[in-house]
Amino acid sequence: MNMPEKFAYIETFGCQMNERDSEIMAQLLGEASYSPTHDLTKADVVIVNTCSIRGKAEQKAFSLLGRLKKIKQQKPDMRIAVAGCVAQQEGENIIARMPHIDMVLGPQNIYRLPEIVGTLPSTKQAKNRVHTGLSNQYAIPAYLPSLKQSASPFHKRFVTIMQGCNNFCTYCVVPYTRGREISRDPQDIISEVQYLVNHGVREITLLGQNVNSFGLDRDKSCRTTFPELLHKVAGIKGLTRLRFTTSNPKDLSWGLMQCFQEIDILCPHFHLPVQSGSNRILKRMNRKYTRELYLEKVDQLRSCAPEIAITTDIIVGFPGEADDDFDATMHLIEKVRYHGAFSFKYSDRPKTKSATFPDKVDESIKTQRLARLQKRQKEITLERNKEYVGKNLEVMIEKDSKNAAGQLNGRTATNHIVN
Ligand code: 5AD
Ligand code: SF4
Repeated sequence: MNMPEKFAYIETFGCQMNERDSEIMAQLLGEASYSPTHDLTKADVVIVNTCSIRGKAEQKAFSLLGRLKKIKQQKPDMRIAVAGCVAQQEGENIIARMPHIDMVLGPQNIYRLPEIVGTLPSTKQAKNRVHTGLSNQYAIPAYLPSLKQSASPFHKRFVTIMQGCNNFCTYCVVPYTRGREISRDPQDIISEVQYLVNHGVREITLLGQNVNSFGLDRDKSCRTTFPELLHKVAGIKGLTRLRFTTSNPKDLSWGLMQCFQEIDILCPHFHLPVQSGSNRILKRMNRKYTRELYLEKVDQLRSCAPEIAITTDIIVGFPGEADDDFDATMHLIEKVRYHGAFSFKYSDRPKTKSATFPDKVDESIKTQRLARLQKRQKEITLERNKEYVGKNLEVMIEKDSKNAAGQLNGRTATNHIVN
């Protein structure tokens, strides 16, 4: 007798760490005989992989979870899991608030998915439905990735090299949702990349919240540093593009900058979040660098790799940000002339130190500042893009372009999208 086919639907919010975690969950569910579906009403298991970095990201996840309640009323056997950073942060509260949720899985617990899905129908008690333990070991066991379960174009894949963060920037939830920094075994990383390349993958992005401190949690005598890891990965025959994300400017070493000269397949793009151009605000953010040190690192980076494209993240309206602090940020973007920037209005996050700061900035001022910053950055980005006019650049094709029939869409090594 044939078993009826079972389907899993996965929705992913947030960063590339989450995207990679969703791929892992899709693979685990695949091994437990669940096929992927894009149709919610067909799904036997729904996973909402959440992000809590900003208030808005969290609201999006809760709004989808709310909609799922109705769908589940039509389909009572449906199992709904909340994974990711909101899961870790809220734990049992999620089930208390939304009893139609069957399980809650923190980022370090996703690999338990098949086991948990298997026991779900019989576990009714909330405490058996919440899995948010944080371990002091690298949580995801080593295994070879699936080549099918990915939303990325076939030629490029993410490989996680570390979990967690030790920096405790005062605005950031990540140390609470993903725990302390733990590096993965370099040999497991190499094996994973080698496997992907053997199967036709050409571009790898190494992922971590703070890749510069890769290896530093291990004993000095047997440690592989991040620059050493880059060299090892780059040595894998057949790989044509290597990228990484993300770095804290305070840990950006000369050794890492030199990798851009030493490793020809290392793509000339650096995402270097500055957050603010004001020393007073940087201090309150606990970023542990000054505006001057940041600008010096940018200069050094450009001296190593003159063609490098630099992008950044900026928060406006951090508690206590006065007009002249914001002006310092505006001035900094003129100085660096970023190729691109992601900018956000500050929002309070649970457990963070800045949530307790008294001098919050008015929402209307945050809105004005964000608009001013984004308007100017858009102009700078356009000026930067014009510098490429007339140049021949290698583009890795990703898909058909949405712009016009017959056009293709891809990315340059500097991470510019090209149609
Ligand atoms: N409010 C607004 N933006 C935030 N970010 C992180 N935490 C917050 C917060 N509480 C931004 C930072 C970070 C990016 C991923 O999200 O700019 O680099
Ligand atoms: Fe969102 Fe940060 Fe969690 Fe990534 S690590 S999903 S950005 S909260």
